[in-house]
Amino acid sequence: MNKGLTLNNVSKRFGDYWALRDVRAFVPEAKITAFIGPNGAGKTTLLHVIGGTLKPDAGTVKLEGEVISGLPPHAIARLGIGRQFQDVRVFKGLTVLQNAMVAAFPISSQICLPTWAGGGSESAILRQAENEALRWLEYVGMADQRYALARELSFGQQKLVSLARLFAKQSRILLLDEPTAGLSHQMIEKVVSLIQRAVIEQGLTVALVEHNMSVVADLANWIHFLHEGHIAFSGAAAHVLGNKTVREIYMGL
Ligand SMILES: Nc1ncnc2c1ncn2[C@@H]1O[C@H](COP(=O)(O)OP(=O)(O)OP(=O)(O)O)[C@@H](O)[C@H]1O
Ligand SMILES: [Mg+2]
Repeated sequence: MNKGLTLNNVSKRFGDYWALRDVRAFVPEAKITAFIGPNGAGKTTLLHVIGGTLKPDAGTVKLEGEVISGLPPHAIARLGIGRQFQDVRVFKGLTVLQNAMVAAFPISSQICLPTWAGGGSESAILRQAENEALRWLEYVGMADQRYALARELSFGQQKLVSLARLFAKQSRILLLDEPTAGLSHQMIEKVVSLIQRAVIEQGLTVALVEHNMSVVADLANWIHFLHEGHIAFSGAAAHVLGNKTVREIYMGL
């Protein structure tokens, strides 16, 4: 059985436009698989299909041999597939700590709302969630800002909080949509190192969409180059990034 995600001939249509056409790819466990390609190539659509926010019009997504495409997003999330969105979605009106705590709540106890959300009194579950949340905020370097509202953070800091949320949720597979876009050089290095550590230390699996080719070269074990909804080329980083077609279509070289 394949340990990881398998995309079998996945196609997705918006009206008459096929944003994905027969995409076949494997995202192996404990590795980083990058999906690169020009704007509009279908990369975000592919992550939507894996995460369940879009259903494929044809083909299947399998997790360790079981079909998951067609399941609602919350069911896919419960299988350990966590998503970081291109536009970074954190709860802007909650503090950094609350953002991480919402993610850290054990799934079985999510009907027990914390006190600040109108729920019952302080409980062991609440303390456990707070400890877990703090652990991951420290991991990404955001513990000092735990009482700041998420809306007061920079874009880069919000990205760090969204990564902490994925770790706190105990996601096993991370779907990362342009995790370094819009970040300073220093912040890019930090995010790259966090993603590397997540794979090495936690054994997480990563499907990475990224336009920054030096980040891709640093991180990816395997690259799929998407062009007009189709995987035009796949291979190891040096092979794909050195490919003539990829360089012409994508990098304008
Ligand atoms: N909800 C939608 N309705 C209609 N068309 C859509 C929708 N979402 C995406 N598309 C179209 O599908 C194509 C692929 O979009 P997608 O967002 O997946 O591209 P992308 O590779 O992520 O691009 P970028 O690098 O700019 O983020 C584009 O032509 C886009 O306009
Ligand atoms: Mg996109």
